[in-house]
Amino acid sequence: MKTLSNFAIIIFSFFSAFLLSVSWASSNYSSHQDFIQCLESHSDPSSPISAVLYSPYNSSYSSVLQDYIRNLRFNESTTPKPRLILTALHVSHIQAAIICAKAHRMQMKIRSGGHDYEGISYRSNNPNFFILDMFNFRSINVSIEDETASVEVGATLGEVYYRIAEKSSTHAFPAGVCPTVGVGGHIGGGGYGNLMRKYGLTVDNIIDAQIIDVNGRLLNRKSMGEDLFWAITGGGGSSFGVVLSYKIKLVRVPKVVTVFRVSRTYNENFTDLVYRYQEVADKLPKELFIRLTLNGVNGTNRGTFRALFLGNSQELISVMNKHFSELALNQTDCIEMSWIESVLFWTDLPTTPVNALLDRVPQSFSYLKRKSDYVKKPIPKQGLEFIFKKMVELQTPVLAFNPYGGRMAEISPSEKPFPHRAGNIFKLQYATNWDEDGEEAASRYLGVTRKLYDYMTPYVSTAPREAFLNYRDLDIGINHNGRNSYVEGAVYGVKYFKDNFNRLVKIKTKVDPDNFFRNEQSIPILPWRK
Ligand SMILES: Cc1cc2nc3c(=O)[nH]c(=O)nc-3n(C[C@H](O)[C@H](O)[C@H](O)COP(=O)(O)OP(=O)(O)OC[C@H]3O[C@@H](n4cnc5c(N)ncnc54)[C@H](O)[C@@H]3O)c2cc1C
Ligand SMILES: *[C@@H]1O[C@H](CO)[C@@H](O)[C@H](O)[C@H]1NC(C)=O
Ligand SMILES: *[C@@H]1O[C@H](CO)[C@@H](O)[C@H](O)[C@H]1NC(C)=O
Ligand SMILES: *[C@@H]1O[C@H](CO)[C@@H](O)[C@H](O)[C@H]1NC(C)=O
Ligand SMILES: *[C@@H]1O[C@H](CO)[C@@H](O)[C@H](O)[C@H]1NC(C)=O
Ligand SMILES: *[C@@H]1O[C@H](CO)[C@@H](O)[C@H](O)[C@H]1NC(C)=O
Ligand SMILES: *[C@@H]1O[C@H](CO)[C@@H](O)[C@H](O)[C@H]1NC(C)=O
Ligand SMILES: *[C@@H]1O[C@H](CO)[C@@H](O)[C@H](O)[C@H]1NC(C)=O
Repeated sequence: MKTLSNFAIIIFSFFSAFLLSVSWASSNYSSHQDFIQCLESHSDPSSPISAVLYSPYNSSYSSVLQDYIRNLRFNESTTPKPRLILTALHVSHIQAAIICAKAHRMQMKIRSGGHDYEGISYRSNNPNFFILDMFNFRSINVSIEDETASVEVGATLGEVYYRIAEKSSTHAFPAGVCPTVGVGGHIGGGGYGNLMRKYGLTVDNIIDAQIIDVNGRLLNRKSMGEDLFWAITGGGGSSFGVVLSYKIKLVRVPKVVTVFRVSRTYNENFTDLVYRYQEVADKLPKELFIRLTLNGVNGTNRGTFRALFLGNSQELISVMNKHFSELALNQTDCIEMSWIESVLFWTDLPTTPVNALLDRVPQSFSYLKRKSDYVKKPIPKQGLEFIFKKMVELQTPVLAFNPYGGRMAEISPSEKPFPHRAGNIFKLQYATNWDEDGEEAASRYLGVTRKLYDYMTPYVSTAPREAFLNYRDLDIGINHNGRNSYVEGAVYGVKYFKDNFNRLVKIKTKVDPDNFFRNEQSIPILPWRK
């Protein structure tokens, strides 16, 4: 077995060395200079592009690259590096990037907040790639009068929440839990958070968008048309163009909300409790979202129930007594606060000062692996026992249950590219974080995460085994760079988008027929068009 895998590695290295030498030969220094010249001549002279263009020769190249790397797995010397980083400041910089990259056959990677779990916004196996970095596009204009906001893609979710709360304590936005996530990738990929059961996904609350298409045209919802607008609200923006901003619809929340976080361990009637949670979590009133996080640390299992309730603690206790008394929630577990404080509570920051949400740098960094699954029937008690035992064996992976139902079940699966609506009890996230450096540790932690995913097979969706785009996972299929394989694309495409995949492919073929906007898991074009 060992010899066989070494042999495979040798063959693979030969093959990659060969590919590398071919592509390096086809892109020499003078063509690189031509690309830079093209960028200069196609951008607005009032905002010189050279001031925002970093090549490996510029001293701040590495720090600019590292500034938005959020997974230490891709902060390695072995991680492929871009030829250039363009930290666009002006629309003409983006237009020039698209036009010149097409002409010079460069692959463009688009990065907003850099939270992609597989780092595909800033790495590529195509040696001729560069990064269009969007962090400078981060203005946010909130209008409480209209109950809307315009947000540029480089803003973080924390900044959006803060700017809303600054103007109103009874408005919110249903998006992700982690405040450093970028608006660009988050909304393009669907987006969800703890307001999901009341208000749906992030993309269920988008009114308009601005995008630059493959011909460099700046379009809004009206001029791009409903098909493209649909595609970039959940189908992954990076297959279709460069999104500049989204106009979002604010939602209403009470002045006082209630949160709790309680843990239970294996010796506390645990299997019955987790089973009961599965029976109720998607059927509770829409105002209540309870996430369960399971682990198998220190030789035993622990479950943490973390909730957001849109109401006060008395109402919450009565809802819990009625529907989920088995958790035995005590009034003393409940904490009343404003919605904006609940954002901090959910991300494990002290609830004041609220301006901690403006911090664009995460509190800590780790090596990360994530995978996802959908559960449509409660996992039977013996199944839970089996999983608990395996989690203790594997130790590190954590399983997070995010309940659906409520508003999620009312929205048609074709309303947005995101197809996982009625019929799902939960989305599961497999989460493994580690701090040990090195390849050996990485392959061990990736291995245990994949093992847990394998053990879960009997209990999750099949044909396809569904997955959530924002929990990017290259294990479920990959479209090799520089190629357009519809067959490869359909493998992950159907898992992320189910029946919506075909519509995404048609839109992609129409708006980007030469497949300029591509990455490891982009939407392919129809095979018979080429
Ligand atoms: C700590 C953490 C917590 C998270 N919590 C949640 C959560 O609660 N809910 C949830 O739904 N997700 C969550 N996610 C996943 C997150 O939503 C996705 O990783 C999202 O894509 C990140 O957006 P980004 O702009 O930060 O990422 P990036 O890495 O910059 O981009 C991600 C993808 O979007 C593309 N893209 C980025 N900007 C643009 C643009 N302007 N135009 C076109 N394409 C673009 C990129 O090319 C890439 O393919 C979390 C991720 C992390 C790391
Ligand atoms: C370098 O690239 C340019 C432009 O693509 C091409 O004209 C030239 O012949 C190349 N030179 C070499 C030595 O390959
Ligand atoms: C990077 O170096 C080039 C060449 O010296 C220079 O023209 C450019 O302005 C530098 N980029 C930045 C952002 O300073
Ligand atoms: C990424 O790697 C660089 C170079 O090794 C290092 O200086 C930097 O601290 C790393 N980033 C993080 C967030 O650890
Ligand atoms: C917010 O308003 C300012 C000033 O009018 C404008 O320059 C900016 O583009 C606006 N931002 C968005 C995202 O609409
Ligand atoms: C364990 O939970 C089940 C189902 O919720 C319940 O019927 C049973 O009484 C509980 N047992 C104990 C010891 O709490
Ligand atoms: C596991 O045990 C260690 C040492 O007692 C403790 O510090 C840690 O918090 C425990 N972890 C969990 C998740 O309970
Ligand atoms: C709730 O918690 C308080 C304080 O810990 C305790 O005194 C009380 O008995 C608990 N009530 C119930 C119903 O468990």
